[in-house]
Amino acid sequence: MPAPPDRRHVGAPLPRLDAWGKVTGATTFLSDEPRSDAWLGAAVRSPLPHARLVSVSKTAAFPPQAVLLTAADLPCANLVAMVREDLPLLAADEVRFATQPVALVAAPDRETLKAALAAVAVELEELPAVLDLDAALRGEGPVWGADNVVAEYRIDRGDPDAAFASAVTVVEGTYSTGYQEHMYLEPQGVVATPRPDGGVEILGSLQCPYYIHNALKRALGLDGDRVVVRQSPTGGAFGGKEDYPSILALQAAVLALRCGQPVSMIYERREDVACTTKRHPSRTRYRSAFDGEGRLLAVDIDLVLDAGAFTTLSPVVLSRGVLHVAGPYRVPHARIRGRTVATHTPPNGAFRGFGVPKAAFACERQMDRAARRLGLDPAELRRRNLVRDGDTFVFGQTLRPGMAAADLVLERVLDRSGYEQRRREARAFNAGGGPLRRGVGVTLTMHGGGFTGDGEDRIKGKVAVRLDPDGLVTLLVSSVEMGQGAATVLPQIAAEALGLPVGRIRFHQPDTSAVPDSGPTVASRTTMVVGRILVAACRQLADKARAFAGDKAADPLLAAGHAGLTATAVYESDPDIDWDQSTMHGDAYQGWSWAAAVAEVEVDVDTMEVRPVRLTHVVEIGCAVNPVLCVGQVEGGALQGLAWGHLEEMKLKDGRYWNDRMSTYIIPTSLDAPDFDVELAELPSPRGPFGAKGLGELPLNAGAPALAAAVEDALDIEVFEAPVTPEILLARWREVSR
Ligand code: MOS
Repeated sequence: MPAPPDRRHVGAPLPRLDAWGKVTGATTFLSDEPRSDAWLGAAVRSPLPHARLVSVSKTAAFPPQAVLLTAADLPCANLVAMVREDLPLLAADEVRFATQPVALVAAPDRETLKAALAAVAVELEELPAVLDLDAALRGEGPVWGADNVVAEYRIDRGDPDAAFASAVTVVEGTYSTGYQEHMYLEPQGVVATPRPDGGVEILGSLQCPYYIHNALKRALGLDGDRVVVRQSPTGGAFGGKEDYPSILALQAAVLALRCGQPVSMIYERREDVACTTKRHPSRTRYRSAFDGEGRLLAVDIDLVLDAGAFTTLSPVVLSRGVLHVAGPYRVPHARIRGRTVATHTPPNGAFRGFGVPKAAFACERQMDRAARRLGLDPAELRRRNLVRDGDTFVFGQTLRPGMAAADLVLERVLDRSGYEQRRREARAFNAGGGPLRRGVGVTLTMHGGGFTGDGEDRIKGKVAVRLDPDGLVTLLVSSVEMGQGAATVLPQIAAEALGLPVGRIRFHQPDTSAVPDSGPTVASRTTMVVGRILVAACRQLADKARAFAGDKAADPLLAAGHAGLTATAVYESDPDIDWDQSTMHGDAYQGWSWAAAVAEVEVDVDTMEVRPVRLTHVVEIGCAVNPVLCVGQVEGGALQGLAWGHLEEMKLKDGRYWNDRMSTYIIPTSLDAPDFDVELAELPSPRGPFGAKGLGELPLNAGAPALAAAVEDALDIEVFEAPVTPEILLARWREVSR
């Protein structure tokens, strides 16, 4: 590999630029500084999952100064624009999920708000609810459209029927995954302030300022200048603040416009867990055909996601899932069908990984099941089938030279973890009997960075940089800092491009009145896609400064500080990208990142408690712009994946989240974390700044399948579900030990 070029800022393990304010408490989150002039808003929600909404009315006790808004008296179109416009802001005649808002209330203080909420009478006529995937697939209800199918995608390649007929071994399995709650540190919150010009300003904890801007423009019928969206310092998001803030901001906005007062809506934890989006539950039927050498001939896959009652982002989550479900493997023939279907449950939404964790779980579980059938070590089966440069994915993307690193990450993780020896040691340990069993599992995954297909062409992200009189350069992007490091990594990229110290770069808090639309902070696109546009803008600014200050100026950017220079760059598409959205065929992603993990677990067969002991994780991400932040991303994402695999279980009862608080929905603490050993590998991509590709979501993919593989190895049983709870393990253990 060529030696890395001489760089000063990219590749430096800089402490996060926002760290000081956060560790000292100097940074104020929305709830730290309640506005004394703001009224408080809240939603009145349906307790039933499906009902006819007969009436919503004030009782005599309703405080005269409080405000009630129902669908009938909304001052705007009753819709929250996302992928589609099917989600109403307030239920009008029909309630389709429990917790769906039927009215909004605002009051000047907490006491009055409480009294007002208690004085709203909601009359509902209960209707039969469709609460499970199978009923939805049968078309019961229907909940949505004519048949509950919110979106469907297919991928067909070659002649799978002939390939199955010629197979030596056919393996079949059905895999399911559950909900996941984001449990960001800071619950959702916004404050809406009416403007004198009839518009509204939003300040909120959010990922996508321009998504909210768009939803408000659409519903309120306002021009873009009269809607301003500002991000407040955001305490985590994980995808949970991609979609939901559009709903909350619009609720607060209509109340603010009605009262003529700022309206604050900041959730307590319980309302947040009970009412906001979750990761989609999934079920995948997977058939694979192998030849006599354990090489994949074909797959036949049926992937189903539970959308909940409305579209939200489900079609996009599904398409990413479908594109990743055959995994990092060479598959000559394929039939893949993906559907997302509606149920009378709260809409599911974006969660770090966005369709891939479910797909990777099914794919990797299926590979382990196949390895058992074929009598091959799971690592060896993967080695025989992984994609290399020149191979073509089932959806028609051919990996150009330098794009494939499945082989690299797999061999590195096997070597680094001492996989074979650890497997042998676990066997020897288990032969000793006793209540503990040890197991070791390997998994191989990938993640496409940026929007799918021509998505980045359609967004056309824009970035501006501004040279200020003090010689500092201000970055104007709509990408937000939400704990992941954007406000550090983007300045590092800019510093490198400009040849300035990082201290000469300022990161502007995202604000639609001040920054252009660089696209949403999602899809592992910030470093790779926005970072690349940023480099182009920085180079332009440097050229302008040199032209202004002259070639002889020692520090042209300082010398030109008073010139009021700015530079703007727009996303430039890759002319070699070939994508057909109607057939989902072609170059699905510009930059693939790769990950392999080896998990070691200990299982107590008396309690069936699973303890992840060690996780070795090798990721290939093109360029680690900030290695310390990258390792943090890998550890955090992997822990979320591990926990989704065995600890985090959200249960539904009568269509409502049953364990809707932190005492009953269990997330991992540091005590539940294994020892992590992370390696960052770098095969620079021509599509990213300094070669960088996406990283944010990648590490969430490996945790659950690696854990399941290790549990299988420990107990010599099969695992088909995430989370694999002690109850499931106990039942399966009894089956085999009988
Ligand atoms: Mo995301 S799950 O693309 O915010």
